[in-house]
Amino acid sequence: MLYKHLQGIVLGVLLSFPALAQDTWKEVAPGIWKTVIGTPDAYNLLTAADVSPKLEGLTKMPAVVFPLDPSEIVAEVTENQTQLRFPLNREEEIFGFGLNFKTVHQRGRILRLHVDHYGDSDNGRTHAPVPFYISSEGYGVFVNSARYIDVYAGTGSRKDSPNPPEARDRNTDNAWTARPYSDAVEMRIPAQGVEVYLFAGPTPLDAVRRYNLFTGGGPLPPRWGLGFTQRLHRLYTDEQVHEEVQEFAQRGFPLDFVGLEPGWQSKSYPNTFVWDPGRFPDPEGFMADLKQKGIRINLWVNPFVSPDSPIYKDILPLTASHTVWAGVVPDFTLLAAQQIFWKQFETEHIAKGVSGYKIDEVDGYDQWLWPDVARFPSGISAEQIRQTYGLLVQKQSAELFHARNERTYGLVRASNGGGTSFPYVIYNDYYEHRDFITALINSGYAGVLWTPEARASKTAEEWLRRMQTVVFSPMAMINAWASGTKPWSYPEVEEEVKSMALLRMQMMPYWYSEFAKYHFDGTPPFRGMNLEEGFRSSDQKMTLSDKEADLEANPYAEATRREVKDQYMAGEYLLVAPMFAGETSRRVVLPAGKWYDFYTGDFAGEGQVITVTPGLDKIPVFVKDGGIIPMADPMLHAPEKGEKYDLEIRHYGHKPSEYMLYDDDGVSYDYEKGDFSWRKLTVSVKPDGAISGEVSKAEKGKPDNLGNISWKFMTTQ
Ligand code: GAL
Repeated sequence: MLYKHLQGIVLGVLLSFPALAQDTWKEVAPGIWKTVIGTPDAYNLLTAADVSPKLEGLTKMPAVVFPLDPSEIVAEVTENQTQLRFPLNREEEIFGFGLNFKTVHQRGRILRLHVDHYGDSDNGRTHAPVPFYISSEGYGVFVNSARYIDVYAGTGSRKDSPNPPEARDRNTDNAWTARPYSDAVEMRIPAQGVEVYLFAGPTPLDAVRRYNLFTGGGPLPPRWGLGFTQRLHRLYTDEQVHEEVQEFAQRGFPLDFVGLEPGWQSKSYPNTFVWDPGRFPDPEGFMADLKQKGIRINLWVNPFVSPDSPIYKDILPLTASHTVWAGVVPDFTLLAAQQIFWKQFETEHIAKGVSGYKIDEVDGYDQWLWPDVARFPSGISAEQIRQTYGLLVQKQSAELFHARNERTYGLVRASNGGGTSFPYVIYNDYYEHRDFITALINSGYAGVLWTPEARASKTAEEWLRRMQTVVFSPMAMINAWASGTKPWSYPEVEEEVKSMALLRMQMMPYWYSEFAKYHFDGTPPFRGMNLEEGFRSSDQKMTLSDKEADLEANPYAEATRREVKDQYMAGEYLLVAPMFAGETSRRVVLPAGKWYDFYTGDFAGEGQVITVTPGLDKIPVFVKDGGIIPMADPMLHAPEKGEKYDLEIRHYGHKPSEYMLYDDDGVSYDYEKGDFSWRKLTVSVKPDGAISGEVSKAEKGKPDNLGNISWKFMTTQ
């Protein structure tokens, strides 16, 4: 009897978690609260990323109060784990949890957040499994832990819930569902404690902005980073690189930087980090020649050190117990390892002219990487190093460029929470065009950048369709070194591909300003429709096909809403709806307000689902009413420091509006010292409908690269 009674007490303690009192939450920056539960690991995502919040941007955001009822957030530390619970109301939607490829809505999902190469399923294993989610109610939650975190995003139903699901009879009740209602996001962290951050809105986009600003603001790429890039065959020689670069110029295709794949080194997998003397006898001269032609060099690397590398002996004691491809694995949490490793990069690559890196294979696969039983000399667990390796290599390599006051923009295959400000774009080997678009959407919820690179294609049509989305992405990249595909490889679409590539260059002032907004205001340049004002989730139901809606045919299925995961926002004013090979038409969900065709300025629709049949040469793009898109001439290279360019400012629709155009030297970090300018582009509409545009004067002593300025009012009726 007594035993039974005691058992009841013990169970009672275990079953109900203590709520976190309001005073355990400390406001650490405007609209951002932090709480510390138990005894967290000393090493976490934010210590790995080691970035400072952009307070200036945060202070400009709307004043807000603590966004949740503190009594509804509960946490408990039991033996070896910390459990967290956050409330969900009935209509609430949640987004985020990293770089997912197939789903945008995360409510109802179970994930284990684990850095890995994406394996065709949204189960938490991905290149950037960021433990950050955003609610449609306008707040965000970030769990600052470098552990593998289990997430039950609205799946569990508790007995003690104030809103338990109703028990229904499946025999007779149509409302029965296989997954009854759950009122919480629950998480399990295998650690004795954890830090949690809560980001207020008021809108979901504001919550994202606060997260991005808190983690340093987005990177501001050098202008050339937003131009075109091609990756070359892994065994090319310096001559072959020159030939290919020349062919781009002869054919009139834009090109700003080229990537050398593993064979620039004397040995790779594992790597020497030394130029191959046969293929690249004079790296310095080679890169200086290219630079004269307006082309920069990006080097492929992975961090696994070959026994034949000159740094091998010195770094050996500072590496993990396990090797990768028989190369040693530096413990980048140790200063001594950092110094040895990056000095090779500084003296042998960057000082000789290298502009950036593609840092490969810092994500997985499990069969390749060190196992979780590996030991690192710092004593930090293999799990935590796995979760943060991408952050460490991004941060440390970017610092080399920062120290020289030169911007870089490169590629990486892993990142995590805290990595927002690093000038790297994630890519991978998974190659589904549609899923690449969903990843682009999710990158905007995760504080990372993603490129839907073009590698190879079965048909000319597919090549063109892929190139069209590459143009509307953070890095316009062809990574076709293995297939040998060139932009002009399909003669039947060569002109179309070229005009898309030139469009990318024309839009440079827009892209550059949008990245500046990512940097200063935290607004992701590429993001999902759910962050767009005027986009109602109910709109999504409009896209449900009859087959999908037919629950008779599949009684175990839920009435899932079909997600809008194949269209996205690019910058302040553009909605991009890519076409995929084999399709001639598609549906586009236009949020509330009027939308116009990007190419013609014609009215396209207003808060409705439209069907478009754009033809092969066009990727459907729509502009919000009042949209202002600053465009330059179609250049073959991004403007260099001090190079003037003419501006054609396009306006769409009938609304008066404004656009902030950003400018600086395009290459250095002088903007950190205030050496930048914003020009205000204003469109006014008179009562008789007459429309006019104005550009604010250039500030004295500030960068000003604008040549002739003209306006084009795209919507004529
Ligand atoms: C892959 C990478 C590719 C390419 C290749 C070189 O892992 O994802 O983009 O760089 O390695 O061996």
